[in-house]
Amino acid sequence: EKGGYPHFMLKEIFEQTDTIFDCIRGRVVANGTAIKLSGVNDHPDRFINAGRILIVACGTSWHAGLIGARLIENFARIPTRVEYASEFRYANPVIRPDDVVIAISQSGETADTLAAIRLAKEAGAFVYGICNAVGSSIARETDTGTYIHVGPEIGVASTKAFTGQVTVLTMLALAIGQLKGTISSEQIAEVGRSILRLPDLIAETLELNPQIEKLSAIYTYVHNFLYLGRGYNYPNALEGALKLKEISYIHAEGYPAAEMKHGPIALIDKEMPTVVIAPDDELHEKVISNIQQVKARGGSVIAIVTKGDTTIPAMADHVLEIPRVPEALSPIIAAIPLQLLAYHIAIMKGCNVDMPRNLAKSVTVE
Ligand code: M6R
Repeated sequence: EKGGYPHFMLKEIFEQTDTIFDCIRGRVVANGTAIKLSGVNDHPDRFINAGRILIVACGTSWHAGLIGARLIENFARIPTRVEYASEFRYANPVIRPDDVVIAISQSGETADTLAAIRLAKEAGAFVYGICNAVGSSIARETDTGTYIHVGPEIGVASTKAFTGQVTVLTMLALAIGQLKGTISSEQIAEVGRSILRLPDLIAETLELNPQIEKLSAIYTYVHNFLYLGRGYNYPNALEGALKLKEISYIHAEGYPAAEMKHGPIALIDKEMPTVVIAPDDELHEKVISNIQQVKARGGSVIAIVTKGDTTIPAMADHVLEIPRVPEALSPIIAAIPLQLLAYHIAIMKGCNVDMPRNLAKSVTVE
């Protein structure tokens, strides 16, 4: 049932061409010029009148939430906050009846996320679920929502669920923006058309696999890794670091790239490699200066760049090229090399990637 792959994790990484196809099917319509999400279309008033959006989740789903918040603020102009469900539920949070609370959970069974939505419902908020497991507790207890439809995820390290969550959040942000008129039809079409190309773009990105496998041999025995990214890719840096630590047991930290000079730069030496997610976007120049700072301190740099970039390859030790996409979609594509890097390093260390020590697939304890 691993479909010829040695591990569920690798199967689930490679399956993302199909899972994203299933995730977007019937939702990005009219050749990419319109978004159809029943959770939004059936409750327009809730979104038009929303004072705020609060996103609650744990782990990888929380990282997807951080990307989602940026997408929603950018496209739908609704103030959005992201909370760890475990903190939110005990923080005596201010929840208003005109809030929309979005709960993100692959399993739909995470105890803290379930408790957070119960709190939100008691306070009269409208609760929207983004789940994978159909009929799960969170899916049942939310007012409405959108399934990510990526199929069962067996590997403990979440991969295809993450890209499915971010894809749904992108469609959600566009759908609310479309409803509220906060984005133009040209903007919707620009992102929408590229969403339809995601399965092909993911297939192209997966071709990095042999290169990443070779690269992993160089870094198998390091003790620390730094991950940097900006904008939509800052949460991706957190996610890349989480992936590596949970399956390879290598300590890794993710930071917004510009924060490096406020402390973490002190850690950099030739023993500590830095992964920099640096697609060719608005913040490209800024990230280039971060790479120079790492290099100046003897650190090695693995950079994820847009195909055709000539500046970063001249300074980084290793370059992983991803296809060009609109900025909003770059975290989905950039997540793939991060997943493969964690996978290969863990395999080379001899770790059990599908069932890492101390972890369970679904955290139903508090
Ligand atoms: O099922 P959920 O999405 O609610 O799970 C949340 C976290 O437990 C989960 O994402 C965890 O962090 C994964 N092991 C990450 O790979």
